[in-house]
Amino acid sequence: MFIHLLVAWIFSIALVRCTDLPGLDALVRRRLPSHSHSFTFNQIDGEGDAFNVTDTSILGGITVSCTTTSACARGLYTYLTQRAGVDIWWTGSRLNNLPPFLPRVHRPLSGKAVVPYRYHFDAVTFGYTTAFWSFDKWELLLDWLALRGVNIPLAELGTRGPLPAKWVNDQFELQKQIVRRMAELGMTPVLPAFTGFVPKALKTRHFNATINPASPWITFPPDTTPVDFLQPTDPLFATLQKSFILKQKEAYGNVSHIYTLDQYNENNPTSGDLTYLHNVAADTFASLRAADPQAIWLMSGWLFFSSSYFWSPERVQAYLGGVPGPDSMIILDFYSEIKPQWDHLQNFFGKSWVWCELHDFGGDMGMQGNLQLLTTKPLEALNSSGSSMKGMGLTMEGQEGNEIVYDVLLDQAWSSTPLNVSGYGRNWTMRRYQSSDLPDSVYNAWSTLDGVIYNIQNPGTQSAIKSIFELAPSLSGLVGRIGHHPTFIPYDTNTTIVPSLRLLVQAGSEHRYLRDNPEFNYDIVDICRQLLANRFIDVYNNLVSTYSSSSADAVAAAALPLLDIIRDLDWVLGTNENFLLANWIRDARSWAGDNETYAAYLEYNARNQITLWGSNGEENDYASKQWAGLVGDYYLRRWQSFTDYLVATKRNGVPYNADYVKSSMISIGKEWNLETFTGPWDVQGNTFDTVQNLLLKYA
Ligand SMILES: *[C@@H]1O[C@H](CO)[C@@H](O)[C@H](O)[C@H]1NC(C)=O
Ligand SMILES: *[C@@H]1O[C@H](CO)[C@@H](O)[C@H](O)[C@H]1NC(C)=O
Ligand SMILES: *[C@@H]1O[C@H](CO)[C@@H](O)[C@H](O)[C@H]1NC(C)=O
Ligand SMILES: *[C@@H]1O[C@H](CO)[C@@H](O)[C@H](O)[C@H]1NC(C)=O
Ligand SMILES: *[C@@H]1O[C@H](CO)[C@@H](O)[C@H](O)[C@H]1NC(C)=O
Ligand SMILES: *[C@@H]1O[C@H](CO)[C@@H](O)[C@H](O)[C@H]1NC(C)=O
Ligand SMILES: *[C@@H]1O[C@H](CO)[C@@H](O)[C@H](O)[C@H]1NC(C)=O
Ligand SMILES: *[C@@H]1O[C@H](CO)[C@@H](O)[C@H](O)[C@H]1NC(C)=O
Repeated sequence: MFIHLLVAWIFSIALVRCTDLPGLDALVRRRLPSHSHSFTFNQIDGEGDAFNVTDTSILGGITVSCTTTSACARGLYTYLTQRAGVDIWWTGSRLNNLPPFLPRVHRPLSGKAVVPYRYHFDAVTFGYTTAFWSFDKWELLLDWLALRGVNIPLAELGTRGPLPAKWVNDQFELQKQIVRRMAELGMTPVLPAFTGFVPKALKTRHFNATINPASPWITFPPDTTPVDFLQPTDPLFATLQKSFILKQKEAYGNVSHIYTLDQYNENNPTSGDLTYLHNVAADTFASLRAADPQAIWLMSGWLFFSSSYFWSPERVQAYLGGVPGPDSMIILDFYSEIKPQWDHLQNFFGKSWVWCELHDFGGDMGMQGNLQLLTTKPLEALNSSGSSMKGMGLTMEGQEGNEIVYDVLLDQAWSSTPLNVSGYGRNWTMRRYQSSDLPDSVYNAWSTLDGVIYNIQNPGTQSAIKSIFELAPSLSGLVGRIGHHPTFIPYDTNTTIVPSLRLLVQAGSEHRYLRDNPEFNYDIVDICRQLLANRFIDVYNNLVSTYSSSSADAVAAAALPLLDIIRDLDWVLGTNENFLLANWIRDARSWAGDNETYAAYLEYNARNQITLWGSNGEENDYASKQWAGLVGDYYLRRWQSFTDYLVATKRNGVPYNADYVKSSMISIGKEWNLETFTGPWDVQGNTFDTVQNLLLKYA
């Protein structure tokens, strides 16, 4: 053993590694510090994104050759996952846990992307997930992206107003770090452009410019969207575009020619006239090209779904037809897994487009997925006649759990045949718990999850599930919702969640190493969370029926188990660092230094987003979370107040008043939004023991 180590050490010094991808060398030093001399990257000329991984020599070392930096990153990832059994997760990088002697490659590994673009981010992920992140958290996600072969991530921080100048400036500094790192890792950041939205005061300086009021956003009062729209047909538009893009280039360097530009996202054009729409797009594109002769316009296709009543195929064709050729535009088909637009819009009339998996609205945390669909539909779209599909990507609004459903799509982008879902799940589980020798109970637990919870065919529940206890309490309207925030549970908890959790707990009690694995602990908390969330529906239904038929005392008794579940849930979530409100608040306040006024402002924003979302509950509970500190405080307060109200109305013979309940829930929200978090700031108690207890109680 010692001799081997010595030989390996001597050779690691003796061999001068000639690598031409410093960004990936840095990634290896960051994530695989004990093997920082063992990997060599060689970029060669060639078509598309392709890699080969081979043994460097008989004495060790791994060589990755590739046609692009992104392909080399993917090659490294393929080696690490398929030969070394390690991975990097949202919950942390475990890459450095590979064996001290690198496993040999033997039969070379090779791969080729089946699409030129691999995309990541919804514009709102920068709010729902990363709003308060420091660069440390970004660094993990950027490595996660690069290794999976993503090559066109969105990079959109530090450009929004009206917000405190300190916020915008801090985000701009962070954006510079992110953009630089993306470029080093072989990713082309998709940068913002000037869209046409301008401050209302612009009119006072440019009173001849064609500036129209922009429509307010959904239910928000107009003063919360205080912008006008400068028509792209006005010469001032091109002037501002050029100024914006040149300033951006000064700040970030020559890192990208791809620009995100959405003019009509949830906000319709002032006219549906075909010539007008054509000219808007033509002038917008001309302004981009005047500022950057190689500009490519990346556009979200969400509007074609969300405002389909406006965007008839003729109007879409007129608008997209304003941009020349197939390749100067990339359309994100935003919700391809269930609301594909490419098919009835004729491949976006020939423009390049990306098959995107949305899956998650507002960072909903319920377990749900459809792996079968994700491994077949993108390839069918790519194979269909006249296809102009050029990419696959992720457009989740929030990144909260369900990691396998995102991994599978990014992996599918490197396979020309549909991945074998059961084999994929098995490999994924081995890497997740870092053992090729897992007990059968673990595979059985996951094959139930993969086969049922991640094989949901019901068209009404094709996105992460929201649990009803996260919603403002009410006697009706909570259970059985379908669509964007489904609450309908399309599987039987007793034959899926319960046995899976039981098997994992059994495995954990027999094999201690599992209890030390952070992802194992994450998963048992997550599945236990789902169990309690689903049980809550049963006790809620019982409360509702008791209220309609029984006495005040019976209602009071029926209310107890609801509050009990909420407390138990808070308890188990509080044992794991990934489920803490404390982190969200701490991250938000960390941007304020010792300025308490600013810290309070940030904390208010952090609290408001996950609760009222808008100062008066305009998007109430849209971005609700199942986090310790939120569950045991805010949700408990709401349900306590609601059940007290039910008991009191029964006792006093007063009819139930839905409007009163609704407004008192908003009042509780307003009160909670103004409070200051006092802890606990860290995990409490032991995950495994807590899960084991709750399993006994609720299974
Ligand atoms: C991978 O290996 C194949 C077969 O030797 C070769 O044709 C190809 O050019 C290699 N590609 C890369 C990126 O090294
Ligand atoms: C606005 O238009 C009027 C009439 O054409 C012209 O006299 C004036 O100079 C213009 N003002 C500006 C700021 O362009
Ligand atoms: C910017 O990069 C492009 C390639 O993406 C290259 O053609 C162009 O010359 C570069 N411009 C400058 C100023 O470096
Ligand atoms: C796509 O088409 C190729 C050849 O045309 C075929 O081999 C492959 O099976 C098809 N894949 C899918 C998923 O339809
Ligand atoms: C998929 O993988 C499973 C488990 O590894 C295997 O039993 C099955 O034969 C595979 N199916 C296909 C079609 O290759
Ligand atoms: C599972 O991993 C093995 C070993 O690396 C590999 O050969 C196989 O193709 C993988 N299966 C799937 C479906 O990814
Ligand atoms: C599921 O299990 C619970 C607890 O044992 C039981 O009360 C309930 O009736 C079961 N539900 C179904 C649908 O079987
Ligand atoms: C603290 O923050 C507030 C609100 O953002 C700001 O108005 C004030 O100038 C800041 N104070 C200091 C000393 O920076």
